[in-house]
Amino acid sequence: MRRIAISNGKGGVGKTTTTANLGAALAREGKRVILIDMDPQQSLTDFFLVDVEGPDAVTLKDLLLSDKVDPNSAIVSLTKNLDLIPNREDIAAFETAFSSLKGGPFLLRTLLSKIKGPYDYCLIDTPPSLNVFVDQSLIAAEDVLIPLKPNDVDMKATERFLSTVEAAKEMNPKLKISGIVFTMIKPGSKSHIAFSGIFKGDELEKVVLETKIRDTVKLGITSTKGQDIFQFDPKGIGAQDYLKLAEEVMKWN
Ligand SMILES: Nc1ncnc2c1ncn2[C@@H]1O[C@H](COP(=O)(O)OP(=O)(O)OP(=O)(O)O)[C@@H](O)[C@H]1O
Ligand SMILES: [Mg+2]
Repeated sequence: MRRIAISNGKGGVGKTTTTANLGAALAREGKRVILIDMDPQQSLTDFFLVDVEGPDAVTLKDLLLSDKVDPNSAIVSLTKNLDLIPNREDIAAFETAFSSLKGGPFLLRTLLSKIKGPYDYCLIDTPPSLNVFVDQSLIAAEDVLIPLKPNDVDMKATERFLSTVEAAKEMNPKLKISGIVFTMIKPGSKSHIAFSGIFKGDELEKVVLETKIRDTVKLGITSTKGQDIFQFDPKGIGAQDYLKLAEEVMKWN
């Protein structure tokens, strides 16, 4: 199971949208995919309108806090080949507890190793602030996919994120940034070309993906409908772009 953290220290760059729709695209390509919502904002859980309010709902927090809970009891089936481990806002209260638990930073990694399902890909949606949930995700993953909005002038958060990835490598030496994907490209905009120049001469230049995710209202609307883009607008540019992204990701070494 290939473990990919979809991450960037910058907020609102399309992390959740990419996790949901890249996951759906890989699933349509016949890959078996599990999505993990590591964000206490539970945006990915809400994206698919998964109800985690009931007293019996088992969520990520329960799995991370106790190794006695069966991970399969939390897995929600979304569509063919696509599953989710949902999150609930109350996980935020346990932020410090996670660090003091036995296994500390490796809790998510250990959890993923216990998942029995025959999955090809695990995509982890992460929060925008650099915290224990991001650290856990980077320690559990093999690859990082960074969504980047080229019209964001403030690159500082992304730069800080790159340092966080470097720090995570101390505990997870195999971790690598495998892709940078530009998102929310406005029609006719060439800003991503100028923006790619930021990575010129840097190792990261090689991982700037060919696929660009264009800005489309439909992708914005899906996040409130409980549907991925292939259910909501299968012929639109959002579906085309995420399918192309999936094809590129499937070619990763
Ligand atoms: N390609 C796109 N075109 C138009 N709107 C988009 C696109 N991608 C994402 N959006 C919208 O932009 C907003 C931010 O996207 P998203 O929630 O995926 O970002 P995020 O990085 O996960 O944010 P956060 O940091 O809060 O977790 C959402 O309202 C989403 O629906
Ligand atoms: Mg998000």
